Amino acid sequence: MKNIIVLVSGGGTNLQALIDAEKSGIIRDGRITCVISSNPSAYALERAANNGIKTRVLPRKEYSDSVSYSHAVLDALNEEKADLIVLAGFMTILDECVTKAYPYRIINVHPALIPSFCGEGFYGLKVHEAALTYGVKYSGATVHFVNEKADAGAIILQKPVEVKRSDTPEVLQKRIMEQAEWKILPEAVSLFCQDRIEIIDGKAFIKE
Ligand code: GAR
Repeated sequence: MKNIIVLVSGGGTNLQALIDAEKSGIIRDGRITCVISSNPSAYALERAANNGIKTRVLPRKEYSDSVSYSHAVLDALNEEKADLIVLAGFMTILDECVTKAYPYRIINVHPALIPSFCGEGFYGLKVHEAALTYGVKYSGATVHFVNEKADAGAIILQKPVEVKRSDTPEVLQKRIMEQAEWKILPEAVSLFCQDRIEIIDGKAFIKE
């Protein structure tokens, strides 16, 4: 059974999708053992507490830079004996001290089809604003491994979602969450926990 540590910063709907998937047996061979938040008032912390999951708060504001913050996160991950780390709406880019300590063991959900609308500065509603400004007809979500470059690690799963003419960033965000993120994130976590993701030449493939 793998220890899954979920890192959050906000509402935690992706965390909720993971909790629900664990309860319904969609996630096999893994359990969420700790939720770590960069934001003391994140609603995600309540979701974890309501489900009896241990929480830790590491406020980003209390650290002067990304490197010192990342070392604090790394210490917490080591203490929690993390097998898999899931960034579920975690709004801080982690320094390479974390990504190098956990190669191919950190996954992130991004609310667009990478390599579109991703990288530094593309997070939350900004991603959907950019997709609407460009005028794409499909956007979607991507689950990928985290490496030293923002949103550039090996892609595990992607799901396209239609963009409608009347969409606002908020409406598009909600449709992408419901139709893509909340489905492919638990699926990828389950595949990881069952050792069904293999890496060949830096790319991720699903073992049948
Ligand atoms: C989600 O849409 C997630 O994909 C996005 O923030 C939202 C968090 O919602 N993450 C990023 O933009 C990271 N680059 P949640 O807190 O309700 O899961």
